[in-house]
Amino acid sequence: MIIAIDGPAASGKGTLAKRLAAHYGLPHLDTGLLYRAVAKRLLDAGLPLDARDHAVAAATTLDVATLDEDALRGRPMGEAASIVAAFPDVRAALLAQQRSFAAQPAGAVLDGRDIGTVICPDAPVKLFVTASAEERARRRTLELVGRGEPADEAAILADIRRRDARDSGRATAPLLPAPDAVILDTTGLTIEEAFQAALQLVESRIAAY
Ligand code: DC
Repeated sequence: MIIAIDGPAASGKGTLAKRLAAHYGLPHLDTGLLYRAVAKRLLDAGLPLDARDHAVAAATTLDVATLDEDALRGRPMGEAASIVAAFPDVRAALLAQQRSFAAQPAGAVLDGRDIGTVICPDAPVKLFVTASAEERARRRTLELVGRGEPADEAAILADIRRRDARDSGRATAPLLPAPDAVILDTTGLTIEEAFQAALQLVESRIAAY
């Protein structure tokens, strides 16, 4: 069983993907980490994010199994990832690894921006998780404050809007619900409510499959 989850930054898709994976005992891949890792390699090497050939080389040699999640978290890396993710050749270089992760015998849960549209177009279960930009900025702010980190909600909202525009506006694999995706708007839902709603949608898809 492949569960494809897409949605904009800070929509809660990662949390839902993790919980669904745990619930069904499936491996989970947060595909945003791949783009973040490519961006980090450029930054670590002192290269600009528009160094396309270097970005493609980094994507080609990336190993999904050795991603250091902690080092890749954070807003600046998300923004940087969004920039390298707009290069079609970078996306192409990361395609095979994502498809082979999805092809594990038991199935898998993958979350990102183009899982239902490009990576796993035949996935029987596709969710598009979204929430208003204001709600997403509010959640991110609470999350940072909860960790004792500085948080400027207006700056976070501007950042989310800019990232939405870039991810939705790019020519290759833009952020878009697949025609057969179920839209889950989590605005006004708690994490638990969103998880229960997602679970119901997945169960009804499985039953219909
Ligand atoms: O999900 P995230 O915030 O970690 O993703 C960081 C950026 O990577 C996101 O703004 C766009 C890009 N991305 C993508 O283009 N396709 C994916 N499947 C996942 C992420």
